[in-house]
Amino acid sequence: MRNHLRRLCCVLLIAACGLSVMAAAQESAVDRDARMSWWREARFGMFVHWGLYSGLAGTWKGEAVGDRGGMEWIQQRVKADTWEYAHEAVPHFQPEAGFAEGWAQLAKDAGCQYVVFTSKHHDGFALHDSSVTDYDAHDLVGRDLCKEIVDAVRAQGLRVGFYHSVIDWHHPQYDYDAASSLPHPLHGQPSPNGTRNHAIYLEYLHHQVRELTSNYGTIDILWWDYSKPENEGPFWRADELVAMVRELQPAIITNDRLYAIPNIEKDDSVGRLHQWKPERGDFTTPEQTVPSTGVPGVDWEVCMTMNTTWGYSEHDHAWKSTETLLCNLIDIVSKGGNYLLNIGPKGDGSIPEESITSMRAIGEWLKVNGEAIYGTTASPFEPPAWGRYTSKPGKLYVHVFDWPADGVLQIPLTSGPPQTAYLMATSSRNALRVDSSQKGIVIQVPSTAPDPIASVIEIEL
Ligand code: GLC
Repeated sequence: MRNHLRRLCCVLLIAACGLSVMAAAQESAVDRDARMSWWREARFGMFVHWGLYSGLAGTWKGEAVGDRGGMEWIQQRVKADTWEYAHEAVPHFQPEAGFAEGWAQLAKDAGCQYVVFTSKHHDGFALHDSSVTDYDAHDLVGRDLCKEIVDAVRAQGLRVGFYHSVIDWHHPQYDYDAASSLPHPLHGQPSPNGTRNHAIYLEYLHHQVRELTSNYGTIDILWWDYSKPENEGPFWRADELVAMVRELQPAIITNDRLYAIPNIEKDDSVGRLHQWKPERGDFTTPEQTVPSTGVPGVDWEVCMTMNTTWGYSEHDHAWKSTETLLCNLIDIVSKGGNYLLNIGPKGDGSIPEESITSMRAIGEWLKVNGEAIYGTTASPFEPPAWGRYTSKPGKLYVHVFDWPADGVLQIPLTSGPPQTAYLMATSSRNALRVDSSQKGIVIQVPSTAPDPIASVIEIEL
């Protein structure tokens, strides 16, 4: 009888999963647009990589591991097993009270509309209070850090998401031989605990994701990481995973990294955009590169570091300038994408000064020019050498990086009634002089740029 009941439960569960997979697949274009609308308008988010690696800060047993590249991979770079890694890292991971409020405040000041943070990175350490492991914040520091972060971000009125790694360098049943195309510190060595049963790891993975999407209120994004063609989709029971998440969080938005894009390393990021398929996730994720063009109908988000590492490193001083970061934001938005800009807090949760300075400067710029970013769509015109365009119904925004020495801007707007143009950086909405020419319109601008990085002219069409 008990077996019979168990079988019935299984059938019902599979049917429920099947139904929600179908529901996701059958979502109408209108419903999908409604679900995606806040994300498409948001344009700018803050990524946070933070975990046990943050306290190590790119240093292993007193030696710098390097001054470039992802130090959230330090366990893999020094080829430590999980016990040695935890032994070194745990003493340096000491989050200060209130760290999460600091992150959320910075995201708000920067003008970010959402925050995505690492609920678990490849090292396998969970920031949430998980019932299926001791390798979590609750057991190691006595706090649910996930809850602290989610609450702080929400208190600032921002959307929140989890970056969740399906790769796991901690779990004793994660079968790194089977996951041969994905990184693991023990590759090439026999498993210390004998034959591994990947199915057990998958139960664990699914359980933790269920906890994350059940216990923290509304979660806006699930940002999976990552797959390769040999280890993707079915290898994670991905369809089921996504169906569960969509059932628990019907409005959630997910990226496509549970599924691999073949040959992606040999391709540029436009290739990634072209190969996006809706059944793999809501948006695709060029990493560290800005595609040369957007692709209509494809939702995409560039994720990028401010230096060269995602997780904090005391040795990486290759900081991008505020100018580069702000111009990237404008460039990406002008092509129809979002920008997810990363900070890597230290082991105590504090944020590197360089990141704070750039984030705040972008926020100051957005206070003046935000209308030319939020809710805009890709430019209808080819980008000019001197700047970029973004647009909204009835408006064209001209972002000028190189202010014209002759005080004249030529815009290829040829049709429609006469246009009015204003400088966004001035409080008086004095119209600029606009003349028509054969190639479009000509705007007379003041001799000096109102903004040293990007000045915006709003054109009413
Ligand atoms: C890669 C890296 C990882 C980083 C991520 C961010 O997948 O493995 O360390 O978290 O990209 O996009």
